[in-house]
Amino acid sequence: MVQRRIPKARDLAPLLQFKRPELDGRKRRLDAAYTIEDLRRIAKRRTPKAPFDYTDGAAEGELSLARARQAFKDIEFHPAILRDVSAVDTSTTILGGESALPFGIAPTGFTRMMQTEGEIAGAGAACAAGIPYSLSTMGTSSIEDVAAANPGGRNWFQLYMWKDRDRSMALVERAAKAGFDTLLVTVDVPVGGARLRDSRNGMTIPPSLTLKTVLNAAPRAEWWFDFLTTEPLAFASLDRWSGTVAQLLDTMFDPTVDFDDLRWIAEQWPGKIVVKGIQTIEDARRVAEIGVDGIVLSNHGGRQLDRAPIPFRLLPQVARELGDAYEIILDTGIMNGADIVAAVAMGADFTLIGRAYLYGLMAGGRQGVDRAIEILRGEIERTMKLLGAPSLADLGPEHVTQLQRLVPVDGVGARV
Ligand SMILES: Cc1cc2nc3c(=O)[nH]c(=O)nc-3n(C[C@H](O)[C@H](O)[C@H](O)COP(=O)(O)O)c2cc1C
Repeated sequence: MVQRRIPKARDLAPLLQFKRPELDGRKRRLDAAYTIEDLRRIAKRRTPKAPFDYTDGAAEGELSLARARQAFKDIEFHPAILRDVSAVDTSTTILGGESALPFGIAPTGFTRMMQTEGEIAGAGAACAAGIPYSLSTMGTSSIEDVAAANPGGRNWFQLYMWKDRDRSMALVERAAKAGFDTLLVTVDVPVGGARLRDSRNGMTIPPSLTLKTVLNAAPRAEWWFDFLTTEPLAFASLDRWSGTVAQLLDTMFDPTVDFDDLRWIAEQWPGKIVVKGIQTIEDARRVAEIGVDGIVLSNHGGRQLDRAPIPFRLLPQVARELGDAYEIILDTGIMNGADIVAAVAMGADFTLIGRAYLYGLMAGGRQGVDRAIEILRGEIERTMKLLGAPSLADLGPEHVTQLQRLVPVDGVGARV
């Protein structure tokens, strides 16, 4: 029989720890997010459907993105025990400069449409965290404003080669003048991918007020308030546009761009040059011959070719064969700091995050991006400690097995 007694007030006192309620709603919301998935859920609640789907969605059946995320989930880690991991060092050098963490912010277009603080929030958060920030050609803040938001930090400029070469090169010159140290040339967009969510939502830039969008706006009043009371959306590099996103992309992108153009761009740019969107070993080899400083193994977050190769699966062979030819950066599908640790262990020098930071932005502006970075940093540090790796250099392929769900049916298909 359990002996019971009446609790005394002095026993209860230490159990009653009422916290003062957090009055700052944004902080309260963000403090309750422990993962990037949590930030995504908050973002979805707070952002109108069209911009949320533009960010969250991918091309066609969205298989490329789902597979890339699944590949990270299908990792098995192999921890080493009894190592002194009382302090872990997450810093690294990439493209001739420092980064406090093994990831930077990927270039994303139309960022102020997701949340009004947009690129400035991203660049400010990158500055505070000591990581590089990438501004897209389709950015909605100017090159100079981004430079001012990240003083002393590293900015990279992402270039889409337009049909109008002079205007693209004028942008590149502006970026060089503003101190951007790296040019990311994106090569996986000869045409825009079929983003079916956008077509179904009738997505336009800027978002248009139809009966559907007005109804959807009611529970997302703060977004509309911000949108209507801050600078109208303008592009860093374009004049106003009032068509659909798909029409804009098709007008801008130049399907004739080839390796000679890449050589030509590399000659113009004074800093480091990286090709973003490499998806085969053959192309990884060809750009090594051009002498670029780095590549981004990426399928554009699944937003271009659906059923594209999974960058994380390409990584081991590219690292093995070409790891000395240039620096290898990886993106697509990163939702957890452990994904980044696995990528570094398998040979990536660096990674980029797209949606992971955009969910933070939509959940709470600048503070939301800070929170996303803090979540990833915590996951990276904890995973490194649990793996027994006190620095990024201590990580190696022995720490990771990629469990494979999808394997090529025969030798012909075995491209990776
Ligand atoms: C909303 C959105 C806009 C993007 N815009 C660009 C862009 O303008 N230029 C570019 O090179 N990549 C762009 N990307 C691709 C990202 O740079 C990056 O490759 C991708 O987001 C990585 O996948 P992740 O979102 O799973 O991290 C965009 C991605 C998203 C989600």
